[in-house]
Amino acid sequence: MENVLKNKHIVLGITGSIAAYKAAYLVRALVKKGAEVQVIMTPAGKEFIAPLTLSTLSSKPVISEFFSNRDGSWNSHVDLGLWADAMLIAPATAATIGKMAQGIADNMLITTYLSCKAPVFIAPAMDLDMFAHPSTQQNLDRLRSFGNQIIEPGEGELASHLIGKGRMEEPEIIVAALEAFFSQKQQLEKKKIVITAGPTYEKIDPVRFIGNYSSGKMGFALAEACAAQGAAVTLIAGPVALQTQHPAIHRIDVESADEMYAAAMSSFPEADAAILCAAVADYKPETEATEKIKRETKGEMTLNLVPNRDIAAALGAVKRPDQILAGFALETNNEQSHAESKLKRKNLDFIVLNSMRDAGAGFQHDTNKIDIIDADGSIIRYPLKPKSEVAFDIIDHLAMLVNKYD
Ligand code: CTP
Repeated sequence: MENVLKNKHIVLGITGSIAAYKAAYLVRALVKKGAEVQVIMTPAGKEFIAPLTLSTLSSKPVISEFFSNRDGSWNSHVDLGLWADAMLIAPATAATIGKMAQGIADNMLITTYLSCKAPVFIAPAMDLDMFAHPSTQQNLDRLRSFGNQIIEPGEGELASHLIGKGRMEEPEIIVAALEAFFSQKQQLEKKKIVITAGPTYEKIDPVRFIGNYSSGKMGFALAEACAAQGAAVTLIAGPVALQTQHPAIHRIDVESADEMYAAAMSSFPEADAAILCAAVADYKPETEATEKIKRETKGEMTLNLVPNRDIAAALGAVKRPDQILAGFALETNNEQSHAESKLKRKNLDFIVLNSMRDAGAGFQHDTNKIDIIDADGSIIRYPLKPKSEVAFDIIDHLAMLVNKYD
């Protein structure tokens, strides 16, 4: 394997577990592969292994306090988070995992984790009962949902002399996990992808709107997946309560379908592909009241609605042969024929079909079940999966089409 860790900046967090002694081997193995390692220790971590051992092996002073004991200078967790190509927490105790999952930033390791834009790898180490406890498992699930990678502990004899799952994975396996990550070929390298996501709000008056239940989760998962595959992403987001993580995502917040239309039309000419994931309101009030509509003066009222522009169809109409356009269809009946007619009407290259009849699919769920229908009529059916994994299936399909024009 080519030396993918050469010159990579690795922030290694070490916490208070007996497995901290293995961190010395880990630092040595990473340094041998040409990586630069910056060790951060929690106060409990220092009880298990001397910082001097680690600073000697990494040729860098170990960081553990917010301020340097030597000269009082501030250790910037933000700078460290930006410096990192990867952050690795090994060993990660139940306490640190809990703090990471909940954002309890009471030491240098957690503040760095919260500032870190790079991929994060976590190698848990604890007793079998602590590892199996629902609290630990839920915290690990939460970290997975943030896109962090958990390096599962092995089974064997633990420090308590009990036998079970909880032993931190061996340093060479942890290094191999980092190597595997860095050697992945990025499928969308240098591609520009526009993604619409979330609902749109159509104003009735200054305090009311017409909207829908779209959470934006699928579109945001797609944006992260495209960025992870090397794309520069323009994410045009309706009103949602979601954050973006990856620095290659440029987010444009919009509210109405008209604003989303304008942003999509101006971004598309530069793009290699667009994925239209937004649940755009089909109608908007014909007029928007400038003052709040009062109940006493109105009594019964009728809202006159006019259709919004179809963003997918507008992009489909200007699409060049080298551009790929993908849409979504959420259907309750005659799913396939509705999806196929949308695919044609909007001039899409493929459409992702969700059926509302599938349990766990659609709005407000973290899982989704999809079929992908291509312009040539072929269909791929996928099982129910977390939205983050569904995003990777869609990206694989998109990458195959986009890379045809290289
Ligand atoms: N879409 C869009 N702009 C709109 C409406 C839809 O870009 N004004 C996109 C959606 O993002 C999705 C696809 O078109 O990718 C299909 O959306 P959907 O709401 O299912 O289609 P409609 O054409 O609105 O059909 P209907 O509501 O009648 O099912």
